Amino acid sequence: MLRIGQGLDVHAFAPARDLILGGVKIDYEYGLAGHSDADVLTHALMDALLGALALGDIGKLFPDNDDAFKGADSLKLLERVMSLEQFKNVTLVNADITVIAQKPKIAPYTDMMRQKLAAVLKCGVDRISVKGTTTEKLGFCGRGEGITAMAIVLLEVAQ
Ligand code: CDP
Ligand code: ZN
Repeated sequence: MLRIGQGLDVHAFAPARDLILGGVKIDYEYGLAGHSDADVLTHALMDALLGALALGDIGKLFPDNDDAFKGADSLKLLERVMSLEQFKNVTLVNADITVIAQKPKIAPYTDMMRQKLAAVLKCGVDRISVKGTTTEKLGFCGRGEGITAMAIVLLEVAQ
């Protein structure tokens, strides 16, 4: 059986924070605000994976009032999602992720992100797509207030 899932996440820029996207540290003057490492890309991906199996979302799995997840490496959280019982018989067909940010340009980092994500998802890099777009300076992303990430995944569930 095939299952499809989508995820969307938004984080605001904040000073004195590292900018982590897809597990990769991006060279930029701001990071993102958040309880964990605020890796908005990985959060959208986890929500897409959980959504595909109708398992809720990362807020349910990793409550942001739980100190265990303070400053957490989101790739480690992704690993935990993939090790859920419900993912035992699941193969990721592909994931397509869009990062919406006026700045910084993520293109130089996308191959590194794909490799990091593929390693956690235990799949080929060719199954993971990461791309960036601006909003032509429109809206909160366009004004540089934060970053939005969208993810869509297709899963094959063995019967
Ligand atoms: O409309 P389109 O997305 O093609 O153009 P754009 O928003 O002006 O972005 C131009 C290109 O810059 C995109 O196609 C991406 O390859 C890249 N980009 C990026 O790497 N990181 C971003 N945060 C935004 C855009
Ligand atoms: Zn998030």
